[in-house]
Parts: sequence; C-alpha cells; structure tokens
Amino acid sequence: MSLSNDWQAVSKRWGHSFHSMCSYMAMFPPRLPHYFIEKFTRPGDVVLDPFCGRGTTPLEACVCGRIGIGVDMNPLAYVLTRAKIEAPPLSHIEARLRALENDMFYSDTDREPEHIKMLFHPSTLRQLVYLKQVLDLSDPCDNFIAATILGILHGASSRNRERSSFLSISMPNTFSMSPNYIRKYIREKGLKRIPVDVFAAARRKLERLFVHEPPPTRGFAYCEPVDHLTAIPDQYIRKRRVKLIVSSPPYMRVVRYGLYNWIRLWFLDVDPDVLDNTLASYRRLDEYLVFVQRALARMYKTLTSGGVCCLVVGDVYSRAKKTTISLADEIWKMLRRTRSRFLLYDIVEDRLPEKRKVSKIWREKKGRATQVDRVMVLYRDHIEELAEAIDWSPPPKRLRPRMVQESLPLRGSAS
Ligand SMILES: C[S@@+](CC[C@H](N)C(=O)[O-])C[C@H]1O[C@@H](n2cnc3c(N)ncnc32)[C@H](O)[C@@H]1O
Repeated sequence: MSLSNDWQAVSKRWGHSFHSMCSYMAMFPPRLPHYFIEKFTRPGDVVLDPFCGRGTTPLEACVCGRIGIGVDMNPLAYVLTRAKIEAPPLSHIEARLRALENDMFYSDTDREPEHIKMLFHPSTLRQLVYLKQVLDLSDPCDNFIAATILGILHGASSRNRERSSFLSISMPNTFSMSPNYIRKYIREKGLKRIPVDVFAAARRKLERLFVHEPPPTRGFAYCEPVDHLTAIPDQYIRKRRVKLIVSSPPYMRVVRYGLYNWIRLWFLDVDPDVLDNTLASYRRLDEYLVFVQRALARMYKTLTSGGVCCLVVGDVYSRAKKTTISLADEIWKMLRRTRSRFLLYDIVEDRLPEKRKVSKIWREKKGRATQVDRVMVLYRDHIEELAEAIDWSPPPKRLRPRMVQESLPLRGSAS
C-alpha cells in the first residue's frame, strides 16, 4: 500500500456539519485528517493534534469513532475544539439559550472600545456584552453557545435582518481586518449597522450545525502550549496511548492569530497582543526548526509503538535566497541531524489552489507561504496501513423529532 493525496479529489466542504462552526486561519479541510485516520487507526484508537486550531483533527477522529484529543494554547482554538468534541445534546443548548434570553438584563455598552462599537448595532452589541458577562465557559452548554456565537460574530451580512447569518457590519468571516481599515471602509462604503437579534441568529446557526448526528465518541481538549504536552493530565497522553497525530504546526512568521482574530478574542476577553507574544512565531529557519524539533520530541513521547505522526507543513519562499524552501525536507534533515528516533515513511504533496491560501487572501506583506503544503508521515518503531480504500461516506443526518400531529393519520384519510 502507499500514500497519495487522494483527499484532494474530495470536496473541501465534505464532512460533519460541526466542522463549519467557525472559520480559522490556516485551517486544513476535514478530508485531510479523515484520510489518515482511516489509513492508520481503528475505532477506539486515540488521535491527537497538539496544534489543533479549530479542532478539525479531534472532531474528525470522534466522528470516525476514535478518541480525539486537541491541544492548542490559543483560547479561541480551545473554545471551538471543546464545543465540537464535547457537544451537549441540542435540546440542552436550546433550553439554556431560552433561559439566557428570558433572563437578559440591561448591559452597559458605553465602556466598550470604539472599534467594537463601530461593528455592531447598539441593540446587537448590548446582547453580546450581556452574553460575554454571563456565559460560563467551564460549562459545556455555555461553551457551545460561545463557540456558536464566535462563528457568526462577523461576516458578510444580508440586508434582511430576520435572516442575517452574521452579527456585524458586512466584512470577511475568516479573519478580522484591522480597525483602521474597517473604519475607512465603513466611511467609504457608507455601511450601516443592522440590528440583528443574537439569540435568533444563534438558533439559525444551531440548526445548521446539527444537520448531522453529533459524533459518537467524545474527545478531550486542552488549552496548553506544546511545551507542556507530556505534562497534560490526560490518561491517553500519559500512558502513551496515542496511535495517530495529524497536525499542522504554526507557519513560519505568516499568521498572527491574535491580531487577525481581535474581534473574536474581544468576545473571549483575551488581549490579542498578549496572545501573539506567547504563540510561536519564528523569523529564522534555524529558530523554527528548533521549535519543531522540541515539539516533535514531545509528540514522540505520546505515541504508542507503531504510532504515526502526520505533519502538514507549507513550503516557504526565501527572499534572501530567492528560492522556495521545502520545510518538510528541512524538518527531516534536522531530525536526522539530531538523531531523532522518528522514522520517515513518506512526504506527500498537498497542492493548494492559489487563491485559497490565507496569506494570499490577506495580502500579508511579510507572508512567505507558497501554494504547496506537504504532509510528512513519520512513525515510531513500525508502521501498518489498515485501510485499502478510504470510506468517504457522509456522516449520518440527524433525524428531526417529528411533530406529533405529523404522525397522526389525517381525519378522513383511508388509513
Ligand atoms: C496552522 S494552525 C493549526 C490549524 C488547524 N490544523 C486547523 O485546521 O484549524 C497552528 C496552531 O498552532 C497554535 N500554536 C502556536 N504556537 C503554539 C504553541 N507554542 N503551543 C501550542 N499551540 C500553538 C496556534 O494557536 C494555531 O491554532
């Protein structure tokens, strides 16, 4: 058997409806972890992503009946991942949303920053500030509601406020543009803030999220830096029970998760600058390789014998050398130099359509990502491919509870 990038033939939108909870920068599509989960694990196995972002790998693992574990030190990533792999029943979420709506009290929005006030109609902002105050993120229902709202906080708004998917003035959904840029844009385009009811918009989003049955297994999420990976009090990590890692480490210098998420981080009360100062960001290749080496050494320790580690890394363009560098090749050379016990199975190319690359969309001046990502497949001790062919069947749809009247025979009907 061999590896190929067969997942490229499957739609990017393929997968469980929870995957579309909220966009996230530098995310990979669910079809990618699905391919490796099917190839290298059986139901009940443990799958880890130590840079889990919006939780694509752990969610896909849980959807496939594996135990998904997601670790990321970005609180936004943690809230999204936890919601997906620890989802309460829809009826509980709806009941909590109703209670929150009924109990709503007047929240003062005067002290909110001007760059937040310019995005939302005052009545929408009042609801958001109230929810910010009362949601208890340690509770799975409240965490799910927060994740749902993060997904609709900003995006292209429709003129019809009754049906609007997003709460802000019209703007991109994937990332937050800079406050100055937005201010200028509002002035130039004469954008008006539309009053969107947060509770109604959240219900519409919940309907879309629960199109599929929630995952059959639950997973575990942790808000920790990769340096602490082996110290996390998780029974599977501690006992080296991880069968598969599918992960993409932060790109070299390309994405600033704090700055580009300042609106969502406002909702979570996280300072974007503080976050950016703590997240990994390396200017030089040698520094980046040391970071990846340390991370891989910790990942190795979580793997069971026969465990596999798939790392998605993008090629970068070096202006100084006027050439493209394959980070995957550099990482492998570094692993050999440092006598890592990881063995290399394969490096598979995952070419991205030019316009999809986040740093291209944003026209990041310093961005050095190219359109080629590579998946580096490493393993511990030995490797065994378990699937001849990947099963791409769609996740089961949720059966909507039928109205009592619907199931009653119509008066006068023959049956
Ligand atoms: C390329 S993104 C992963 C995206 C993810 N594959 C997805 O589909 O959403 C890299 C992630 O690494 C996280 N990160 C950066 N430095 C970290 C560190 N030192 N420890 C843990 N996570 C870190 C960032 O917050 C970001 O979510």
